[in-house]
Amino acid sequence: MKDLLRLRTSLTEEMEQILNDQIKMEAEASAMYLAMSGWCDRNGFDYSAGYFKKQSDEEREHMLRLFKYVSDMGGRAVSPSVSNVPLEFESFRGIFELALQQEIAVTQSFNRIADKCQKTKDYVTFSFLQWFLQEQIEEEYVARRALELFELIGEDGTGRYEIDKRVPKITHENTYED
Ligand SMILES: [Fe+2]
Ligand SMILES: [Fe+2]
Repeated sequence: MKDLLRLRTSLTEEMEQILNDQIKMEAEASAMYLAMSGWCDRNGFDYSAGYFKKQSDEEREHMLRLFKYVSDMGGRAVSPSVSNVPLEFESFRGIFELALQQEIAVTQSFNRIADKCQKTKDYVTFSFLQWFLQEQIEEEYVARRALELFELIGEDGTGRYEIDKRVPKITHENTYED
């Protein structure tokens, strides 16, 4: 019976598991960003609250994109459970440090999946992954830039208010061009 089921998909059992792990990672990122949004709202950082809400939505989109791929390939996509989502965070700056760490971890995870694809000659999944690999450039850039604002503007006086206002305006564009 198991062999018959396997015929429905070209995904190896191992790759199906790896992709389901990534689905969970994206769901966790989405939940984390939403928690960050809530903290920002409670602490008067309204613009950052909106920014993290948007990030949360995007992570859910990533989760669904992976979910659909596994399903389309005839695999079993697992709707993940997410637990231990924090309610409190150390500080405004601490949230952005955490956000950057999270994005770097996601990039590393996709690199590992890409590596696995090459080793197992799963070029269909490898091709599907390209969108995510490209997306991580932007994700990391925006998270890193947000953190840089703390250095550039400083947190004293109205600093945090200024940072909060600028965070949603960060875009990943080619600053080498006019
Ligand atoms: Fe993501
Ligand atoms: Fe992300």
